[in-house]
Formats: sequence, C-alpha cells, structure tokens
Amino acid sequence: MSLLSVHDLFVNYRTQGGPVPAVRGVDIEIGTGEVLGLAGESGCGKSTIAGALLRLLPTGTEVTGSILLNGEDVLGMRPGRLRAVRWTETSIVFQGAMHALNPVQRVGEQIEEAILIHHQAGEREAHVRVGGLLEQVGLPPRRIKDYPHELSGGQKQRVMIAMALACNPSLIIADEPTTALDVMVQAQVLKLLKELQRDLGLAMLFITHDLSVLIEVCDRLAIMYAGRIVEEGPAQSVFYESAHPYTRALADAFPAIGEGRFRKAPSGLPGDPPYPQDLPGGCTFHPRCPLAFEACPHIDPRLFDVGPGWRAACLLVDSAKPVLEAARTPGSGP
Ligand SMILES: Nc1ncnc2c1ncn2[C@@H]1O[C@H](COP(=O)(O)OP(=O)(O)O)[C@@H](O)[C@H]1O
Ligand SMILES: [Mg+2]
Repeated sequence: MSLLSVHDLFVNYRTQGGPVPAVRGVDIEIGTGEVLGLAGESGCGKSTIAGALLRLLPTGTEVTGSILLNGEDVLGMRPGRLRAVRWTETSIVFQGAMHALNPVQRVGEQIEEAILIHHQAGEREAHVRVGGLLEQVGLPPRRIKDYPHELSGGQKQRVMIAMALACNPSLIIADEPTTALDVMVQAQVLKLLKELQRDLGLAMLFITHDLSVLIEVCDRLAIMYAGRIVEEGPAQSVFYESAHPYTRALADAFPAIGEGRFRKAPSGLPGDPPYPQDLPGGCTFHPRCPLAFEACPHIDPRLFDVGPGWRAACLLVDSAKPVLEAARTPGSGP
C-alpha cells in the first residue's frame, strides 16, 4: 500500500472573478521512504497540491477526488484528527516557512511546544529531544535559547526542518524549501534534507520549479503544467530522456545543480503558462510547444505509457498513435 495515494484530485479556488481551476485531475502515489519530485513553472498548481494534501487551502476552496494517507481519507477527517496528522504523520516545510516562526518565542520552546501539544513526550523528554533535533539539523544545541531574529535565513530554515521532524512524521512535504536562500546555503539545506530523508527513511514530496535540484534527491519526478501532471516516471529517465517537450525545456533551463549563473527561463519557450481560467483548447501546452502539429490544438492528451512506470501526456509519444489515428478516421473524431 502507498503511504500517500492521491486520485483524480481537482481544486477550484473561489474568487470574485469566478472559480479558478488550479488543479485538474492529478494522481500521485508515494511509497514509504520514497521521494517524489514535483516540478513546473510558477503558477502550475504545485503549492495548491501541497495545500490540498493537508487541507491548508482557503475556506470555500472546492477540493474533490481522493487523498489517502496511510489508507486514511484526508478529505473526510475531522478537524482534531487533521491537526494531529499534520504533525505526527505528514509535515510541511515551505518557502516562507522562515517567517512562520513566532518572533517573540525562543526557537527551542517553539519546537518543544509542538512535541508537547501532540503528546509525543513529557516535558523533560521533550526538552532533550529538542536538543537532539537541533543537532540533527546541524545547529549547535545552544541555539535552543535563540530568538528567530538571532538566526540567519539558512539557520531558520533548519529550525523549520527540525520542527517538521519533531513528531516523527513518515512523510514530509517540502515546497520550495531552498528557493528563498542564497545559492551556497541552498546547497547545504538540500544536503541536509537528503541526509535526513535517507537516515530516517522518510517519504518526501519535494516541490520546486528547479529540476536540477530534484534530480539530486528524487526517485521519481512528476512534471506539472496548467494544473495537470504532463510527465511522470523514474527521475533519471524523465530528466535525461524527457518524453514531453515541456519537460525537455525545463531540463534544459536547469542543467545541473550549482550552475546557478547559467539558469534562465525555460529555453526556447516563448510566453508564460496560461491562467487557469483561460486554458487553450486541446493540449494546454500547444501554443508554446516547439513540436506542436495540426492535432495538438484539438486533442487533449491523457498520460500515455512511455516505459515502465513512465508516462507522458503528449501526442508524439508512440503509444498515442491509436488516438491520433482514431481522430483522423472520418466519423470517429472528437
Ligand atoms: N488563494 C487563491 N485564490 C485564487 N487563485 C489562487 C489562489 N492560490 C493560488 N491561485 C492560483 O492557482 C494557480 C496555481 O497556483 P500555485 O499552486 O501557487 O502554483 P505554483 O505553486 O506551481 O506556483 C495560479 O494560477 C494561482 O494564481
Ligand atoms: Mg508554489
């Protein structure tokens, strides 16, 4: 059984301008100890998925489909159960997390409180555990007495990671955990996350727009475009032999870790991703696709098999041929 199993997830934000379909039919499976990378340009729906998984989206947002965590239905959980699950089973580290610390409380106390609230230990034991956690994330235990403003950005992010680990979750959702940090610190925090993941056997959903970061840490990759996963499979295959032209463009834009100065917008890709309220017909990527052909504005491609555990939503994939042929046969077209 998967640790996390998401099926047919749709998310509609409610706004004055009408519903915003930010996620449109997404499936995700993460096994125990497995790391799935979720990538795509800004606005593709990555954080919306992260928010949906722990039900952190604004009230009124319509979320449908199923989200099973350890077999338990997240969308049907009562508030008390949900609060417990957020710490003890799945926790989240996000980009702005550094600013989520309480500025007037010592960082050690904040971590300790989380442990106590969720009945993970008694006071004395919790105190010892905080020291251990800080050490685990590479901070000297004396930092326990510091206030957030006494720590650098990278140190604060380490505290947030310690906090995420405080109640022994089996899944960590990391949403752009290194994006707000400068390049050197980014590499250190990434290394830390990688080591913790391995040592503790954590499962992780690692979200970032930067594919080169993901290739370092992930077993599998899922690439999002306009609210859907357009390619998913083993990390190496997806990165080095991308089946979807969008993945190819992303991979070319983020060649390898540490080469920050070469980073640019996805190469050869004109324009921006579409707004969820204004999606083009057929394949949503066709207006920007260097390989688009006559069928692309008309057929909305589902995920076609590329190889074992590897699928891409592109009509150029071999296994899409029957769909193209059916569309060409008079009377059977869409
Ligand atoms: N609270 C919200 N209300 C309305 N639209 C939103 C809200 N949050 C995000 N969106 C829209 O949903 C889409 C996906 O956003 P997001 O999930 O943040 O993407 P990503 O994390 O990939 O950058 C974007 O078009 C964004 O403008
Ligand atoms: Mg985001």
